[in-house]
Amino acid sequence: MKERVYIFDTTLRDGEQVPGAKLVTEEKIELAKQLELLGVDIMEAGFPISSPEDFNAVKKIANTIEKSTVCALARGLDEDIEVAARSVENAASPRIHTFISVSDIHIENQMRKTRDEVLTMVDHAVSKAKSYMDNVEFSPMDASRADFEYLVKFTQVAIDAGATTINLPDTVGYALPEEWGLMIKNLVERIPAFKSDVVLSMHTHNDLGLATANALAGVINGARQIECTLNGVGERAGNCSLEEVVMTIQTRYKDRFYTQINTPEICKTSEMVSDVMGLPVQPNKAVVGANAFAHSSGIHQDGIIKHRDNFEIMDPKDVGASGSSIVLTARSGRAALKHRLENLGYAFDKNDLEPIYLKFLEWADEKKQINDEDLLSLLQTVEAVS
Ligand code: KIV
Ligand code: ZN
Repeated sequence: MKERVYIFDTTLRDGEQVPGAKLVTEEKIELAKQLELLGVDIMEAGFPISSPEDFNAVKKIANTIEKSTVCALARGLDEDIEVAARSVENAASPRIHTFISVSDIHIENQMRKTRDEVLTMVDHAVSKAKSYMDNVEFSPMDASRADFEYLVKFTQVAIDAGATTINLPDTVGYALPEEWGLMIKNLVERIPAFKSDVVLSMHTHNDLGLATANALAGVINGARQIECTLNGVGERAGNCSLEEVVMTIQTRYKDRFYTQINTPEICKTSEMVSDVMGLPVQPNKAVVGANAFAHSSGIHQDGIIKHRDNFEIMDPKDVGASGSSIVLTARSGRAALKHRLENLGYAFDKNDLEPIYLKFLEWADEKKQINDEDLLSLLQTVEAVS
């Protein structure tokens, strides 16, 4: 039986922490509506205590969104939790997400507390959040660098106080897929609630480029919620990328897992995030980059013309991309040139194509890419010579 993986989008919170990417309320609301269309299960709308504008934005999103759960972030402090609760009180499905560090590095160097004092704080924070609503997510921050036995205790305290989702952050993007997967597996074995009513989630960062691999290793080992962002935007090197985990599940794990993401909305949402945040998507970005379905070498172009499966593992339509493209460059072969000319209404046999191809190579060596206009001019020069 296939198991559902919940998608928790934090583009509007962790994503918005990127320097220069701050959104105004209207932009946040528009993006929230698009995230709802995309079908995210939960959207983290913001960190309401951080500024009056963010409080208002979260409140408006909570009043607008009907299908996705709307979540507000709060440190494990009474005032934060109280403000977060007020910001989402009118949501059709509200959630508070509160967090406290679990690693000794943070406990000693940032919080300057003892482990026992921190356990008391966990119990207090989750109980406080629970006094406002049922749906409470708790994150032991910096979980990947924590002592495992203490993490077990910490998690159990949060569950006993009423947390319905436990989210393990790899806050500094330090984990490796095999160790992260093992940690999830061991935690599921030690805490029976993860096999019944408490959802185990992960929030992976990309400092070593492993955020997606870690999230997937976690799913295989028992986690059932992934926290992620469009285009992988987020603090420092960013977060796990929504489009990557969703399409990997759909492409490689479809017999075991599914998400409820409306995948044809992926490219549109990615573009919107890039535009409003002013963060261009790198051309070679998996799934949503401009080159994700562009083919430029001769062998690949020949293969794609014969059958899409030769060089594509996803259908561009499944992610809302305009389609595969064949880019004519000096690395293109005769097959691609012939194909493009046919699309423009010109059919040539092998012999007639040869002088055109030779001229094409000359032009392509000079100009990085040959577009349709160039091709039409090129045809005229070859015809004029012959
Ligand atoms: O990276 C992190 O640890 C976070 C927490 C607030 C979940 O963003
Ligand atoms: Zn984070």
